[in-house]
Amino acid sequence: MMGCRACPLAAHRRQVVPGVGDRRAEWLLIGEGPGAEEDVKGEPFVGQAGKLLDNMLAAIGLRRGEKVYIANAVKCRPPGNRTPEPEEISACFPFLDRQIGLINPRLIVLLGRSAAHSILREERGSLGALRGRRFEYKGIPVVVTYHPAYLLRNLPEKLKAWEDLLFARSVMEETNSPALF
Ligand code: URA
Repeated sequence: MMGCRACPLAAHRRQVVPGVGDRRAEWLLIGEGPGAEEDVKGEPFVGQAGKLLDNMLAAIGLRRGEKVYIANAVKCRPPGNRTPEPEEISACFPFLDRQIGLINPRLIVLLGRSAAHSILREERGSLGALRGRRFEYKGIPVVVTYHPAYLLRNLPEKLKAWEDLLFARSVMEETNSPALF
């Protein structure tokens, strides 16, 4: 992955940003792609959006690196932080799929439309239509919420993100409970 040249993003990146966290995480969070600070540090979500993401995790009793892994739909920074193109998301998909296989999380949380596009192949449909639903990827439950960078620009939506986190936690609890009968 580190020397990948499968898409045009390779030409502009400083480094590949694969992901960070507990390799046996129960929670896998997937964002869009590295921004400027992530491109420099080599770690996802270290800028402003990352601070909000850490706060969101803390709100449901989680911490980066503890039972949590954070990755992105694309591993290289799109120039000027533009949205990754569908072809770039597809080119990076085998890496994401491999990460999911290795980590084998109990729940996947998709942050924003690029992640939803990558995992659910949802190319149209607004994010609002994907929230509050339980999807599956290779048998692993998947839920969708807003991207933290979007929440920074649309503060009133934080309430919906909070609802989504509670929903995510309830889906996780369902997967934890033993079969009753
Ligand atoms: N936004 C993302 O989607 N991913 C990051 O790693 C940073 C910001």
